[in-house]
Amino acid sequence: MSSAKAQDILVKQQEYSVKVRELLMQRYTHMPLAHVHSFGCQQNISDGEHIKGMLAQMGYGFTDSPDDADFVLYNTCAVRENAEDRVFGNVGNLVHCKRRKPDMVIALCGCMTQQEHIAQKVKKSYPHVNLVFGTHVTHTLPEMLYKTLVSHKRTFDLSDDIGFIVEGIPVHRDGNIKAWLPIMQGCDNFCTYCIVPHVRGREKSRSSRYIIEEARQLVADGYKEITLLGQNVNSYGKGLDEDINFSKLLRMINDIPGDFRIRFMTSHPKDCTRELIDTIAECDKVCNNIHLPVQCGSNRVLKEMNRHYTVEAYLELIDYAKKKIPGLTLTSDIIVGFPGETYEEFCETLELIKKVRYTNMYTFIYSPRNGTRAAKMPDPATAAEKSKWFREMLDVQAVINQELMDSKVGTVQRVLVDGIGKTGAPRLAGRSDDNTIVEFDGSSDLIGKFVNVQITKALNWAVFGEII
Ligand code: 5AD
Ligand code: SF4
Repeated sequence: MSSAKAQDILVKQQEYSVKVRELLMQRYTHMPLAHVHSFGCQQNISDGEHIKGMLAQMGYGFTDSPDDADFVLYNTCAVRENAEDRVFGNVGNLVHCKRRKPDMVIALCGCMTQQEHIAQKVKKSYPHVNLVFGTHVTHTLPEMLYKTLVSHKRTFDLSDDIGFIVEGIPVHRDGNIKAWLPIMQGCDNFCTYCIVPHVRGREKSRSSRYIIEEARQLVADGYKEITLLGQNVNSYGKGLDEDINFSKLLRMINDIPGDFRIRFMTSHPKDCTRELIDTIAECDKVCNNIHLPVQCGSNRVLKEMNRHYTVEAYLELIDYAKKKIPGLTLTSDIIVGFPGETYEEFCETLELIKKVRYTNMYTFIYSPRNGTRAAKMPDPATAAEKSKWFREMLDVQAVINQELMDSKVGTVQRVLVDGIGKTGAPRLAGRSDDNTIVEFDGSSDLIGKFVNVQITKALNWAVFGEII
């Protein structure tokens, strides 16, 4: 039933896409240009690639500069306050572009604009913005854009979750070596600090046949790395009428013939099973790096965060994974200063970091988000205290990171070459299977290929070596 509805939506949007194309041909003598910028996580970057796919179908070309654009779209992030501030800063600056080019269309979408109070703020204080839409109607961009272009009225669409995924939206990928492949949308976990379930709706998985079809096409198109995306990939398959889970999906993608590798993010520790660890260990194309955000190292705080695991269970899982997966590297997200967190509890996070030894951590000071449960909790620690704890954590991590980087000297790493290195040609750069940045000298023909590199030197952000 929902797939018939999704098909109807797709056909209707394709019709609008043709209408926009015709309108643009009448209106412009040049190829109209769009500037699309996505803030935030990989899921958002991937949404941005779908938005660009629709815009390309409507006849737009792309530009990196908003000054040259006829259509500017910011795909926003709401996960922390500073992400929102950055968007407002950028939107404010567009006033000057619009003054020079009054028929420029400015649009905002994504997690931030799904929130009513943000839409109201844009309505009131940013009159140069023409189109604002939330996360649940992205696939109707052709229709919304058509209406905006013909009516010259401001359009706001914050419609609710439609409850199913619309397949068949075109994609305009940013790269030709690595590809993002979303396997699900939304989140059901309601971690108490997090805005995502409020703005992206309930979890919905894509049917495996669409995912496999897309992965096969990516391999046929020459992509060498596929990253499967979801807010919690470990619960993939929930609600589908097929016998599937994330481990089974990984095995199916691993069975696609071709020379490519598979990554995935993000994993929730509560749903990360031993079956999944075994699958990672057994699938030759799945990389030996797991992003497994722990958020903090205190059982009391984890409970308040609604994370549904304990420090002990997490560490047991890590031990099992380290034993099963050779050369495994781990990365994490950590929040410092959750409401009510004490210094002693923060020190438990430091202890956990020392035990796990992450190669990389994405670290955040807690940022209250309107509408979440944590935003109503008492938060006695001061911003200055939280900053001090934060710096203490970075110091602990810097030592661990350097030790882990140094331990790679003398090893041979398989590297997917993805571009020119920081110091320019002939220096090339890429990532090893365990996701370390590796730089070495070589010919630019190697970009997009796998090479083996003997590591000779380590800094804190990359290792260096020679092709063998
Ligand atoms: N404050 C700080 N960090 C947050 N994150 C999510 N919500 C918040 C918040 N309110 C972090 C979590 C999550 C990552 C994507 O962003 O660590 O894993
Ligand atoms: Fe937010 Fe938790 Fe869902 Fe991740 S799992 S998106 S942190 S609610």
